[in-house]
Amino acid sequence: MRSGIHAFVLSPRRYGKTSLARRALTLVEEGGGRCAYANLLFATSETELAATILQAVLRGVLGKAGRARHSLESILRQVRITPKVSFGQDGSLDVGIDARSIDMPWQEVVGDAIGVLRRSARREPAVLVLDEFQVVAGIGRQGLGGAFKAIADEVSSTSIVFTGSHLSIMERLTKGHGAPLHGMGERIVLDVVPEEPMVAYLCERAEAVGRQLDVSTATAIYHAADRIPNYVQQLALAVLEAADEATVRPRDVERGVATVVEREASTFATQFEDLRRSPAQQRILRALARHSTTSVYTRAFLDEVGVANANAVTTALRALDGRELVVRRGKVWDVADPFLRRWLLES
Ligand SMILES: Nc1ncnc2c1ncn2[C@@H]1O[C@H](COP(=O)(O)OP(=O)(O)OP(=O)(O)O)[C@@H](O)[C@H]1O
Ligand SMILES: [Mg+2]
Repeated sequence: MRSGIHAFVLSPRRYGKTSLARRALTLVEEGGGRCAYANLLFATSETELAATILQAVLRGVLGKAGRARHSLESILRQVRITPKVSFGQDGSLDVGIDARSIDMPWQEVVGDAIGVLRRSARREPAVLVLDEFQVVAGIGRQGLGGAFKAIADEVSSTSIVFTGSHLSIMERLTKGHGAPLHGMGERIVLDVVPEEPMVAYLCERAEAVGRQLDVSTATAIYHAADRIPNYVQQLALAVLEAADEATVRPRDVERGVATVVEREASTFATQFEDLRRSPAQQRILRALARHSTTSVYTRAFLDEVGVANANAVTTALRALDGRELVVRRGKVWDVADPFLRRWLLES
């Protein structure tokens, strides 16, 4: 990021992309760099995308409260879209961009935004993080991957970091020769936090709140949550809550799992019900809950899920993957959320 190199950070949901990106941004800022963080999740059109990015850059550049007004004015002179500026009672200022006020090509708005970021950084690093970047694949008739390639090629000495889940979509955007963003930056596929540091971290956190958590119980938490950082944290919290005494016991892990599953049950029920138009998807999801597998095209699996042929399995898996209910780790298909898996097994 400090060297103006673009990067892609890919992982399934809840592995820690946003946390990683934010941490990296903090480090760049501490070193004097200028950063902007845009979450593209809610953008549904090109202009909303451009508005989100411009707003993120203006917020990043205007920075903390109390900046001199002339700096605001000089920054606003560099953009062709007029933002709504509001002042908080504490003198802090905020800017908002209304997508409906954009009456020029969206790429130029993004170009303006990156220009502002670059100039505000002077000689220091400038970084733009585009989180939830998989969203761009769904906007416009052909997706906007190619347009972002053009934008990224044009900027010099500014690092754009594209982070996204929906691995299959992100891979289509970035991997292989036909991919619109192929070869444009460093590709980082984020894996789970390894066992040793994550377990050590859980033990430390427990101690900080006056609980005793030993390595073997923390390891059990780590694996019961499929090693996925978000679920590990969620379960660890539930386990600490479930423990009656200062010392966390192995049986508390089981109680923690039960608590999480119970809390999430209505969400899981809704997710499952949303699949009612495709009983095949429902059956495949339940089958994967019983056993993750590489063999989704074998006769035995087709029979188990009551599907006529391999094509139907492919279609169903693609749909389930699109909803991020299943993931493919290596060649193994599995339920994406360990607690959903548990709920499916118990229901
Ligand atoms: N390095 C880490 N150490 C400990 N916990 C972590 C770490 N990274 C992430 N987490 C936990 O996982 C949670 C989810 O992280 P984060 O929101 O960064 O994931 P994400 O990949 O951006 O998810 P999504 O794809 O849903 O946006 C965090 O709130 C935190 O509890
Ligand atoms: Mg995120």
